[in-house]
Amino acid sequence: MKKILCIGAGYVGGPTMAVIADRCPEYRITVVDINEKRIAAWNSDHLPIYEPGLEAVVKRCRNRNLFYSNDIPGSIREADIIFVSVNTPTKTFGAGAGKAADLQYLEKTARSIVEYAENDKIVVEKSTLPVRTAQAISRILHSNTKNLKFQIISNPEFLAEGTAIADLENPDRVLIGGMETPEGKKAIAEVAAIYEHWVPRERIITTNLWSSELTKLVSNALLAQRVSSVNSISALCEKTGANISEVTAAAGRDSRIGPKFLTASIGFGGSCFKKDILNLVYLCGYYGLQEVADYWEQVVKMNDFQARRFVANMLAAMFNTVADKKIAILGFAFKADTGDTRESPAIAVCRQLLDEHAKLAIHDPKALDNARTDLEDARGIIDFCEDPYDAVKNAHAIALMTDWSCFRRLDFRRIFDLMEKPAFLFDGRNLLDHEALYRIGFNVYPIGRKALTHFPAAN
Ligand SMILES: NC(=O)c1ccc[n+]([C@@H]2O[C@H](COP(=O)([O-])OP(=O)(O)OC[C@H]3O[C@@H](n4cnc5c(N)ncnc54)[C@H](O)[C@@H]3O)[C@@H](O)[C@H]2O)c1
Repeated sequence: MKKILCIGAGYVGGPTMAVIADRCPEYRITVVDINEKRIAAWNSDHLPIYEPGLEAVVKRCRNRNLFYSNDIPGSIREADIIFVSVNTPTKTFGAGAGKAADLQYLEKTARSIVEYAENDKIVVEKSTLPVRTAQAISRILHSNTKNLKFQIISNPEFLAEGTAIADLENPDRVLIGGMETPEGKKAIAEVAAIYEHWVPRERIITTNLWSSELTKLVSNALLAQRVSSVNSISALCEKTGANISEVTAAAGRDSRIGPKFLTASIGFGGSCFKKDILNLVYLCGYYGLQEVADYWEQVVKMNDFQARRFVANMLAAMFNTVADKKIAILGFAFKADTGDTRESPAIAVCRQLLDEHAKLAIHDPKALDNARTDLEDARGIIDFCEDPYDAVKNAHAIALMTDWSCFRRLDFRRIFDLMEKPAFLFDGRNLLDHEALYRIGFNVYPIGRKALTHFPAAN
């Protein structure tokens, strides 16, 4: 029985290993983490992360061929293939602070492998890493004095939170990069053999190591760039009377552009897009390509601008003050179907509203615990509401931050009756039926479309 180990039991390691265990019953999969609480949660009825479909897969495989363990040394010793799926956040200190990837967790993992390994192994980079990290890992691993040989493989993960299980079960592609040597090719084939259990061979792409590492950064940069491009045009739409939904629907009909990922919003969030673009920006600067670095950095700047613009629009609509006004925040997760709030635009919006002395009531179906942690310093002045109708009671405005489909099914007539008047609704995701809300009596402010208000036109 082949033994696979995954180091890092987070949003990537957890779901990815669950699906591999499910699809490869003859492999034994172990997942370890330095965070013992996380491992305990994976072994409990309350998994540490929420993903549609995840619980069913975990329950099918756990203690069959999927094991969550705190025994890092023993698991390293036993494993044939080790996936490394630890966090690689943006550095907050020293050289490259604010842009470069903080690789300390990755390096510590590599050093643990050197310390405990007793035979040759394949080490798979699952984490998103700067291009050429495999070289550093290889140097650390080959500093062992036990004459052990390691093959480094890059196998970046393209799952999107909220659809992780569906993405893993039916990926657009699996990318596997390795050394262009006979041993490297053999290692690529071994990792490909895992995915071949359920992924059609033509969707498994093999490349050299550096292409694979760079592809992950580029994929996220291109996706984020698309969001920022649409959002930049949403600002122009609001000034000119053009409707962003009409513009993107028509532009997206060009098959070279395509219709997906063209929705205007308060901006992208999540742990990856910003971090990975900044990582790309840092790399370009490091290699002396300042113009390329500046080009990509603009994607992040545009995203920050969109959140600021959203709050500026709220202020302008609400007579230039929100001080002492209750504002209901609907949704705090960075996107629907996840409890993850890392880099959620809701954080920036809430902080700006708090600076304006607004009173906030936050509701989210899955992310309230994380919201409490994110806004820990503002405890006491924010209400965290399990019930959306509590959040909107006596509120002057609603700011919709997350595209949870359940928000569409709320009783907006009841909500309108519960709110102060005039009742404002700022739809940061263009999720709701704006005409219907307007007919109920709301003053509705979408993104990139004309506001629907009951106020008489100014003279
Ligand atoms: N979250 C996503 O949607 C996503 C998608 C694709 C790729 N990625 C990338 O995958 C990587 C992991 O992301 P994540 O969201 O799963 O992060 P995460 O923070 O949820 O999980 C990482 C886990 O690694 C553990 N860890 C850190 N150092 C360790 C060590 N030395 N030994 C054992 N465990 C250790 C942490 O305790 C944590 O539980 C990152 O590089 C990220 O960029 C994330």
